[in-house]
Amino acid sequence: MGLDFVVKVARKRVEAEGIVLLDLEGEGVALPAFTAGAHIDVKTPSGAVRQYSLCGPPGQPGPYQIAVLREAAGRGGSASMHDALAEGDRLAVSAPRNHFALSEAPGASLLFAAGIGITPLVAMADALHAQGREFTLHYCARSEARTAFLRRLRERPYADRVRFHFDGGEASRQLDIAAALAAAPDGAHAYVCGPQPFIAAVRDGAARAGWPAARVHFEHFSGLAADTSGDGSFDVVLSRSGRTVRIAPDVSITQALAAEGVAIDTSCEQGVCGTCLIRVLEGEVDHRDLYLTPEEQASHTQMLPCCSRAASARLVLDL
Ligand code: FES
Repeated sequence: MGLDFVVKVARKRVEAEGIVLLDLEGEGVALPAFTAGAHIDVKTPSGAVRQYSLCGPPGQPGPYQIAVLREAAGRGGSASMHDALAEGDRLAVSAPRNHFALSEAPGASLLFAAGIGITPLVAMADALHAQGREFTLHYCARSEARTAFLRRLRERPYADRVRFHFDGGEASRQLDIAAALAAAPDGAHAYVCGPQPFIAAVRDGAARAGWPAARVHFEHFSGLAADTSGDGSFDVVLSRSGRTVRIAPDVSITQALAAEGVAIDTSCEQGVCGTCLIRVLEGEVDHRDLYLTPEEQASHTQMLPCCSRAASARLVLDL
């Protein structure tokens, strides 16, 4: 994971209940352009590195904008962005990376956001509107008070394409995902971001309605809480050098290989971003990521070594 430059917090304001919006300016450098769906890694004041989607309009000069939800059950990274960061402070960040890009295929787009999952999708809505492409944004939140970008989306020229679903925590008032998918034109692509059950519900609904998986794009914010109590040791063989590295129960493959001088690029370290993806030549993987599709996982030909382990005594990796 590389932190490429330092930015200054030019503006910090409350965007919604529990959510702050930060404008980040380049310090003596022009910030690289980004595309809708991109994120940056941010070294938070707690020291933890977190990923935040860029939610300003893509393709326009100006500060990077990120929205940060205070995660009550988090590991302190988001809380430190709320409590220990003031305007004028500096942050180390990475260049933008995009694992959640809009398809260039013609046709309509259906955007599904839940809660803070709106952050990449608000940039996508801006980009699709700027390109004159057809889209509908479904935005689910508990209440208006907790809805980031409420005013922005109501004032955008495409406000009539945004459907807010405030459920107040009641299932009966939740978005009818099947109906939203059924209303999409043939060949549409769906993009979904939010809590894991929401993503799973949209993916399941799309699969049941016969949508090919390639037309359903998703991005998770945090990884699975894996049960590590039964973890054992296993061997990793590096095919290019023939070296074997023993992976201890409480160490990830990326950590063990880094200690042996074999660096694999990482970012989220939770199996959600895909940065550390490597090819597997032999062996069975105990997949613990949210990045690969079930079909990709079942093929055992690739893995995310920041979190996944071996289901066999050894793995031969294309390293
Ligand atoms: Fe993000 Fe491994 S570093 S999936």
